[in-house]
Amino acid sequence: MKMHNFSAGPCILPKEVLQKASEAVVELDGIGLSLIEISHRSKEFVAIMEKARSLALELLGLEGKGYQAIFLQGGASMQFLMTAYNLLDKKAGYVNTGTWSQKAIKEARLFGEVVEVASSQEDNFKYIPKGYSIPSDLDYLHLTSNNTIYGTQIKEFPETDVPLVCDMSSDIFSRQLDFSKFDLIYAGAQKNMGPAGATLVVVKEEILGKVSHIIPSMLDYSVHVSKDSMFNTPPVFAVYVSMLTMKWLKDLGGIAAIEEINERKANLIYSEIELNPVFSGFAAKEDRSIMNATFNITDDELKDVFDAMCKEAGISGINGHRSVGGYRASMYNALPLESVGVLVDIMSELEKKG
Ligand SMILES: Cc1ncc(COP(=O)(O)O)c(C=O)c1O
Repeated sequence: MKMHNFSAGPCILPKEVLQKASEAVVELDGIGLSLIEISHRSKEFVAIMEKARSLALELLGLEGKGYQAIFLQGGASMQFLMTAYNLLDKKAGYVNTGTWSQKAIKEARLFGEVVEVASSQEDNFKYIPKGYSIPSDLDYLHLTSNNTIYGTQIKEFPETDVPLVCDMSSDIFSRQLDFSKFDLIYAGAQKNMGPAGATLVVVKEEILGKVSHIIPSMLDYSVHVSKDSMFNTPPVFAVYVSMLTMKWLKDLGGIAAIEEINERKANLIYSEIELNPVFSGFAAKEDRSIMNATFNITDDELKDVFDAMCKEAGISGINGHRSVGGYRASMYNALPLESVGVLVDIMSELEKKG
């Protein structure tokens, strides 16, 4: 049965990437050895790591602009503390747009003063705060570009001289932005890049080395940068698959090309949510994410029917996060437009039944 994978992460990856990755597990590019049984210091893996690092910068338009891309472990959650450990000397600002921001705030408080410059908590994070003022004495301002759980996404980033740190775990490589506005970007691989196990960190070198405390080697970005992301054994499989996915994206036409497809997918589902009285959207209209569409069913009695219809059509992974409920259709880069079409057809069929 053809499945339509709307999972929030880990999630759908391009079929050809999965095919090539599975072959490499048996034998990498005709070398007679598996990708996961060769040394990370072998010339084959060093080339893979270098390719992954350079593709990340190339796709983001950051080549030759003083940035370094590294692949670390510990998930995006490790970055909640690493960003603060490396950049927070006195005071940092955070915009609280939900669970992931809150977790980042909790870790940062271990390292210095944290100011919550804005929050949408009072409305269960249905919207993105705007027009807030940013104190000029912050070491950095931390943002979450896409709030996976609530389906909200920052459309306009603040103009400020304060360094910007951004958790882009759930929308990296999905839309065109001026990425040079950010001093540090991090993203767990398991949405638009690859399997869980690697986290991409893109950092402007000039912001490092400014804190007054000592940083343990494994948590020090400068150490990982100086060792070309090979300070210790990297997650070789996750880096390899991320490299393949970035290459897939580049061959497709890069972020500009995927953004167009992502916009079409998002428009398709949001028009249905707006027009169909059986469904109501969760996120504020102007802040709706092109990656995760969150919605509820207005008539509880139709829930079982809808679930059964989805199951029969091979739709997988659309249950909402436990803190929000309802449904969430995650439409990451590799999800074809056709899958959104199948979901939308079911939604409109349900309206006729209701
Ligand atoms: C925006 C965002 N940040 C952070 C995380 C945490 O990622 P990890 O599980 O890799 O630590 C997630 C996980 O879904 C996320 O969506």
